[in-house]
Amino acid sequence: MSVGRAAAPHAERPLSLYHLLEPEVLADPYPLYHRLRTEDPVHWDPFLHVWVVTRYRDVVRVLRDFSADRTPTPGQLTAMGLSELNPIAQVMVKQMLFMDAPAHTRIRGLAAHAFTPARVTILRQHIREITDRLLEAVLPAGRMDVIADLAEPLPCIVTAEMLGVPVEDHRRLKGWSQDFAEMLGNFQHNPDRVPRILRAVEGMTDYFRSAMRDQERRPHEGLVNTLMNAEIDGDRLTEEEVIANCIVTMVGGQETTTNLIGNGVLSLLRHPAELERLRADLSLVPSAVEELLRYESPSQHTGRLAPADVELGGRRIRARQAVIAVMGAANRDPERFPVRI
Ligand code: HEM
Repeated sequence: MSVGRAAAPHAERPLSLYHLLEPEVLADPYPLYHRLRTEDPVHWDPFLHVWVVTRYRDVVRVLRDFSADRTPTPGQLTAMGLSELNPIAQVMVKQMLFMDAPAHTRIRGLAAHAFTPARVTILRQHIREITDRLLEAVLPAGRMDVIADLAEPLPCIVTAEMLGVPVEDHRRLKGWSQDFAEMLGNFQHNPDRVPRILRAVEGMTDYFRSAMRDQERRPHEGLVNTLMNAEIDGDRLTEEEVIANCIVTMVGGQETTTNLIGNGVLSLLRHPAELERLRADLSLVPSAVEELLRYESPSQHTGRLAPADVELGGRRIRARQAVIAVMGAANRDPERFPVRI
């Protein structure tokens, strides 16, 4: 008789966010989030060496008040013996996602030129046309693969249009985005994947540099053009800042939107009464999208650093200690979102 090691029951397993590395926990992380929220809502994770925050009110405080300036600089990586990652860090430290005010306010203000209401109206019309085209292509078959036919191509094509680069490049942009996204919203870093991520950073940097040269010769609408020309009180983005923020905007919009569509359709199929309610009253669509974003958040967690020694949920967090704010758990906190029976 062979003696197998049965998996320990949930309650006996060490409380850690690392269980998200297990496919079955990733597929349904909510029992783990429930344990964290009820047993230790501001939890020192001894395996990840970070604080894990899961209650809605605490997550909001972390997102509002803690430091987003969390990506190691090339100098810090070199000191840790990880200088091979420097080309990635050089790009990340210039991305608004990893900045606090006033550096964040500056880049965000300049980038906002690309998202004026007039530009968003034009983009919205384009998005409708692209969606219609993708759906018309599958209508004759009477069936579709939601991810392959809609959720993946839609954000890729929209992103290329938004950037103002040739739409034919959208598959290349998607490949790079997928590789780069491994550095974001993720605490599992596979050293074997580093060469691929380095190639993606190099590829995107060259691509956007040549898109900028193209804009100089032949200016045309899009984020590349807007970021190149945005100016506030004589202040403009440098070439490296334009490239870094084109990359973060491109990457930020892809996987998230694919997952919103995929998770959203799956959630509706799992709740046929809600799907019927929505079909019967399309004015519910905007609030349904908000609710689906909450219920199956495409972005489940993000990182911050404590800005100083602070107290959160009765725990003392030291300055510069890392904190993971688990939005996926906060968004199901019954204290904020009472469960309807
Ligand atoms: C369902 C779709 C989306 C979700 C769930 C989502 C989620 C998020 C989250 C959670 C953050 C904050 C991360 C943090 O502070 O650590 C963020 C930031 C950002 N996202 Fe998205 N995102 C979505 C769509 C998009 C799209 C379409 C774009 C591009 C057009 C985009 C570009 C960005 C950028 C540039 C930032 C950084 C903003 C800043 O630092 O001020 N995202 N996103």
